[in-house]
Amino acid sequence: MELPFAESYKIKTVEPIFRSTRKQREKWIEAAHYNLFNLRSEQVFIDLLTDSGTGAMSDNQWAAIMKGDESYAGSSSYYNLKKVIQTLFGFNYFLPTHQGRAAENVLFSTLIKEGDVVPGNSHFDTTKGHIEFRKAKAVDCTIDKAFDTESDYPFKGNVDLNKLEDVLKSGVNVPVIIMTLTCNTSGGQPVSMGNLKQVKELAEKYKTYVIFDSARFAENAWFIKKREKGYSKKAIKEIVREMYSYADGMTMSSKKDGIVNIGGFMAMSNKDWFEKATTFNIMFEGFVTYGGMAGRDMNALAVGLNEVTDKDYLESRISQVEYLGNKLIEYGIPIQKPIGGHAIFVDAKKFLPNVPKEEYIAQTLAIILYLEAGVRGVEVGTLLADRDPETHDNRYPKLEFLRLAIPRRTYTNNHMDVVAAGLKNVYEMRDEIRTGLKIHKEAPIMRHFTVELYKA
Ligand code: F0G
Repeated sequence: MELPFAESYKIKTVEPIFRSTRKQREKWIEAAHYNLFNLRSEQVFIDLLTDSGTGAMSDNQWAAIMKGDESYAGSSSYYNLKKVIQTLFGFNYFLPTHQGRAAENVLFSTLIKEGDVVPGNSHFDTTKGHIEFRKAKAVDCTIDKAFDTESDYPFKGNVDLNKLEDVLKSGVNVPVIIMTLTCNTSGGQPVSMGNLKQVKELAEKYKTYVIFDSARFAENAWFIKKREKGYSKKAIKEIVREMYSYADGMTMSSKKDGIVNIGGFMAMSNKDWFEKATTFNIMFEGFVTYGGMAGRDMNALAVGLNEVTDKDYLESRISQVEYLGNKLIEYGIPIQKPIGGHAIFVDAKKFLPNVPKEEYIAQTLAIILYLEAGVRGVEVGTLLADRDPETHDNRYPKLEFLRLAIPRRTYTNNHMDVVAAGLKNVYEMRDEIRTGLKIHKEAPIMRHFTVELYKA
């Protein structure tokens, strides 16, 4: 008999979680104004809000924490991390930051100015926020297939090269193209090596640069290994190195594929960018050799980057996401296919066809799932898409998703069973769900974090 698959680690420390009642949850969610970000973590049984900073560190990472060097300048932790980044990505220059959006802030301060256009595959919300904050424009050039949740296309994170070339030749100033690996917004969908290579070729043709938003770079490499011809025998680290040969720089949220609780960085091959970014980093983040991170956290990140590019780790990780996704498919629940790297994206428009788009379909589904099972997911839909900066109208995205993001090495498949059963129960009552939510109060930018809603 073939031996079944099992995780490539065992558990040393556990943290209790509380299973609440529906009555309690009804009270809590009303007080939270139907915004899951306003809940206290104790009010959540299984927390799939995000895979960001929520992973479990290994014993080796905790050991590295103890050996962290907290010197203000020139700490050994900084040099440990620099060496890992150089080896893994091939970039000679790097600056640490307190998290991913801080790296975006610093690097974009040096590269992007008012009136610029920044194309890419669906930019993440903080990335888009930092582009629009500078009065520049983010243009989504993702392939159309990414918006068809039923299509099994293996690389739904790819950009459409024609759409990209149209932007490049339109006469606007494009300081940089940003490729997000994996593409979070389209469902944790990977970008193929072929696409990365072609994007770089186009960038060279039009004399511009390419940056990878690298939050889930290792998961992207795993999909290249599994799905792209010619890569099945290559080591993950080898694949990563080739991916980054098609980039001029990177921003990183270490809270995802760094498997640490906080941290970020940017890295680049261009000395001029590095020198300019250094000035901003010192202003916004901290001195060159710590930039917003404690020495111990840089040390843990150096270990995490090596662990996340281990084939056995990635197999455990992606298998768990697939386990949940396959259960949902078995129950007939509409999700983005193929199953992505860090999360299951439930197609809320198909799930709740009777809720009008003006009443925030995916947010409605997220709230009902929380009430049913104490599971916290997150809306990736109209609330997140925000308003058009010029017209101030709601931007209704093509897809309304409920994202169930799975923290790394944190939950077991029993937890995944609870999530699947909770969602199945909601699916069985979908016909009766006809109304959603309305906005009571919202912020001018990044409204989803603080928005207050009421039942329509
Ligand atoms: N880029 C991507 C693709 C991301 O998913 C995130 C964060 C960031 C950049 C920003 O990094 O949080 O460290 O400042 N995504 C989290 C999420 C918040 O839940 O998907 P950060």
